[in-house]
Amino acid sequence: MKIQENISLKPYNTFGIDKKARFFTIASSIEELRKAIAYAQEKGIELFILGGGSNILLTSDQDKLVIKNELTGIQVTASTDEFVWVKVGSGVIWHDLVGYAISKNWGGIENLSLIPGTVGASPMQNIGAYGVELKDVFDSLEALHIASGELHRFDNPSCEFGYRESIFKHRLKNQYIITSVTFRLSKKPQLNTTYGAIQETLNDFKVKTPTVKAVSDAVIYIRQSKLPDPAKIGNAGSFFKNPTISKAHFEKLQSAFPTIPGYPNEEGIKVPAGWLIEQAGWKGQRFGEVGVHEKQALVLVNYGNGEGSDIEALSQKIQQSIAKKFGIMLHPEVNFL
Ligand code: EPU
Repeated sequence: MKIQENISLKPYNTFGIDKKARFFTIASSIEELRKAIAYAQEKGIELFILGGGSNILLTSDQDKLVIKNELTGIQVTASTDEFVWVKVGSGVIWHDLVGYAISKNWGGIENLSLIPGTVGASPMQNIGAYGVELKDVFDSLEALHIASGELHRFDNPSCEFGYRESIFKHRLKNQYIITSVTFRLSKKPQLNTTYGAIQETLNDFKVKTPTVKAVSDAVIYIRQSKLPDPAKIGNAGSFFKNPTISKAHFEKLQSAFPTIPGYPNEEGIKVPAGWLIEQAGWKGQRFGEVGVHEKQALVLVNYGNGEGSDIEALSQKIQQSIAKKFGIMLHPEVNFL
């Protein structure tokens, strides 16, 4: 295990923020993870596990041991006529897994095509897009308990999944390193094409009988037309979560803003934060090196040399303006470091 010092994290976060890690190492096995943990304990420093760096905002240098997770491997562990269980190393790039499933015609994650990040990060925030969430295909995961060095298994209910939430962002935060995730994929795919522009895109593509590959291609097309490519413009996807407000609050807003979109859920009405931010005039605005994406107001961008603190300051101004105009508090989806 090689430990490096004072390493720039710019290549390791999709916002492209140039902050340093005091210590940095790459772990490609559970043994290497255990060694890295021992090193951090010996030095009395905190650990940070880096996946694809696609959901973090670096606001300061990290006086920690940053571990780049490169645990690989995709393995079928069980199979029936209907389903296949696939155990995947947490360092595998999420979209590589999607591509693998599509090559086998296994259904379940095609709507989650092109989400940046790694497999290990996917349960942390229960990634979701186009009507599908990770929890719909999640069987279980294995995670290294940092304090004891033991591997523990978590099934679906014990991860306490919610909208962009899991137990690993709350009660068990910083206590575990996810090492593998097992998915239950379908050999007889039930395609989900009802959400957003998927069906419309399939029609444009003249697809009559969609396959998992066709749905994935449609999702990739939609994402590429709206979301900036982190390799070109730094970003972390949606910056805020879509807020849920009470029915009474929604009806009040409807009288002032008749076109406000709303989607009922168990807790009230979910409102697209992108719509609120656009209505408040932020869409496409640029402030020096940072700004609000011109095609999706929910995405904050770094044009090149922005600082995490610039993005943070912009996000706070947006929060204040949305609170003032709509009486809604937006909460970041991105994790600040
Ligand atoms: N909208 C606007 N203006 C904008 C953006 C959105 O008016 O600039 C409104 C429109 O009414 C649109 C609605 O918002 O119909 C929803 O927009 P979109 O389909 O782009 O989805 P979203 O709610 O903004 C969520 C996820 C995305 C995911 C898409 C598709 C969250 C926080 N974001 O975005 O996930 O790709 O749905 O399912 O739930 C991510 O988490 O990083 C992410 C990209």
